[in-house]
Amino acid sequence: MKVLVVGGGGREHAICWKLAQSPRVTELYCAPGNAGIAQVATCVPIKATDVDAMVAWAKENAMDFVMVAPDDPLALGMVDALEAVGIAAFGPRANAAIIEASKAFSKELMKKYNIPTAKYETFTELDKALAYIRAQGAPIVVKADGLALGKGVVVAATVEEAEQAVREMMEDKKFGASGSTVVIEECMVGPEVTVLAFCDGEHLVPMLSSQDHKRAYDGNKGPNTGGMGAFCPSPNYTPEVAAFCEKNIFQPTVNALKAEGRPFKGVIYFGLMLTKDGPRVVEYNARFGDPETQPILSMLDTDLMDIFQACVDGTLDKVDIKWKKGAACCIVLASGGYPVSYQSGYPISGLEEAGKNATVFHAGTKVNDKGEIVNAGGRVLGVTVTGDSLSDAISKAYAAAKPITWTDMHYRTDIGKV
Ligand code: AMP
Ligand code: GLY
Repeated sequence: MKVLVVGGGGREHAICWKLAQSPRVTELYCAPGNAGIAQVATCVPIKATDVDAMVAWAKENAMDFVMVAPDDPLALGMVDALEAVGIAAFGPRANAAIIEASKAFSKELMKKYNIPTAKYETFTELDKALAYIRAQGAPIVVKADGLALGKGVVVAATVEEAEQAVREMMEDKKFGASGSTVVIEECMVGPEVTVLAFCDGEHLVPMLSSQDHKRAYDGNKGPNTGGMGAFCPSPNYTPEVAAFCEKNIFQPTVNALKAEGRPFKGVIYFGLMLTKDGPRVVEYNARFGDPETQPILSMLDTDLMDIFQACVDGTLDKVDIKWKKGAACCIVLASGGYPVSYQSGYPISGLEEAGKNATVFHAGTKVNDKGEIVNAGGRVLGVTVTGDSLSDAISKAYAAAKPITWTDMHYRTDIGKV
């Protein structure tokens, strides 16, 4: 099969790395890809959000299957557009990807189908939003409705902070149109767990549970990032929690989307909080998480292409999905200054040495004129290792990352420990 993966980060490297192991995948392409992905797939210089160019290229080059990984092209309807020209595509159509693209939509869906989540109200008028915040008091959570690169959520400790967040979203248009509707919700407390699940529109198979680390610095300090590391499975996700989530959250979500005429095929990302009143949905995403995918796919024993195909064909209930025993950990190595501002173009050393003991997924890298691999983004590498236990995976990942360095590189030293 000729397969194209859309995207170019660490998540896409992990997906390509796993697909490249499938005997069914004879030609693998990735658009736009990166320097690491180029080691397992042929990179195609098309932006992930350029739906027309992507579909035209896939058709011209006779792709048998396209996997769309990032949120924006899914929300833009890339899967719909591929299907329209007869190409099998993995990922939700736009009308199902909306569970990530609109928080107002997903909150309403959960309310309608009694799926446990934080209490909330949706606002399109600033005055009403401000009045609600003052009436509710703090702490309180303010969310821009639309996609905002993971930055559209403010957990406000004070009423003033919440008011400022709403003003920035609705008045200053900090996130453009994404913030013209805001969701204001109850602040929940408890450990967070992520569960990704394969879906074929009707059936759902959860993957191993996982946890990422969103803050930039040790001790969960500093600004939010795309994710500084992740591990799986999560010790907080006990069999009892899993049973509750499967019965009250996962399958009800798939059923709800089907009942609404928006069958979901692809990966649903359940961001969960384990509150004292039980598990609650914090958010849905319509795709694999980054960096959670890096450790999760490292633990997968089944052919990923078989699973993708079954999701598209509606036969997921026929696939036996197997996982390795033990645990996996991914340490993200980032550019100095990320997530605010950073310099790129510094040559990276130690990659080969690290690769002897870990799978080093590339996120933001490219090859410069001299043929050197240099940093080319905020999150640069994800050093990923499997082990007998979580503590074993963590210590092996840090040991494997040791030889890697470039000017101003930074990473957290407490992934998996907080
Ligand atoms: P989201 O983009 O919706 O996942 O939100 C980003 C982060 O904000 C989550 O991972 C949580 O840590 C936090 N968060 C979101 N909603 C809530 C909530 N209702 N209560 C407490 N924390 C929240
Ligand atoms: N790691 C969080 C996300 O992919 O949204």
